[in-house]
Amino acid sequence: MINLKVVSDKNAIAAEALNMAHQLVEKQSDELFSIMLAGGSTPASFHRALAAADWPWWRTTVLFGDERCVPPTHKDSNYASAHESLLKDVSPAAVLRMTGEAPSSSAAADHYNNLLQGLPGKKANLVFVGMGDDGHTVSLFPDRAEVKDRDVIAVPQPPHASHSRITVTEAFLARCDQVVVLISGAGKADRLEEVVKGNNHGPLSQVLRYRKNKPTVLLVDAAAARNLTSGEIEI
Ligand code: 6PG
Repeated sequence: MINLKVVSDKNAIAAEALNMAHQLVEKQSDELFSIMLAGGSTPASFHRALAAADWPWWRTTVLFGDERCVPPTHKDSNYASAHESLLKDVSPAAVLRMTGEAPSSSAAADHYNNLLQGLPGKKANLVFVGMGDDGHTVSLFPDRAEVKDRDVIAVPQPPHASHSRITVTEAFLARCDQVVVLISGAGKADRLEEVVKGNNHGPLSQVLRYRKNKPTVLLVDAAAARNLTSGEIEI
């Protein structure tokens, strides 16, 4: 079931994302809990709220949905951003980093693909992703052939984007327990309206189609929602 949840701004996105995360982790007492972090700039306020929250890090594994093929200290690294906004302040049981510094993006993708096979049920419990203004999500960009038989793939440097990438696939995202899409800003409004109205065929729309019967939330601010209102959506 796909739900659109419209909140006021980025801080409200952070508060609601934290509320949803707490509800999930409390339902799974004393089991390993895996949380997959989104890249980009939107999640930073959520990450800071999570770092300050009372959270069972002792049983939490942190995963990444995508990464740029750069070292983990590079300014464009999603890991570096997450370290600054969250990981430097907490001590998870495990952090499974995508190794953007690997000799090749395909080697890094193979490595992470193997790591994900070790997760219970080969899925994450809670996944956060974003949406680019072209409708991409994680590093799955429009007009690319979907790969259905892998959980992680390498992506050559996309047009209008930086670096070659490593990304989880639609197939992996379709399997996960809960997916939350964090979308903020007026620049996303046109594309979000296309996605919500079923007029878009990009990677995020494909993920939502796969997940029409699984818990999935589009958590968006008023600027991105423009003329949309909260409620269940049919993709
Ligand atoms: C990346 C991200 C990407 C991001 C969206 C939204 O590595 O670029 O994973 O998918 O989530 O582009 O980015 P913003 O939150 O910065 O708008």
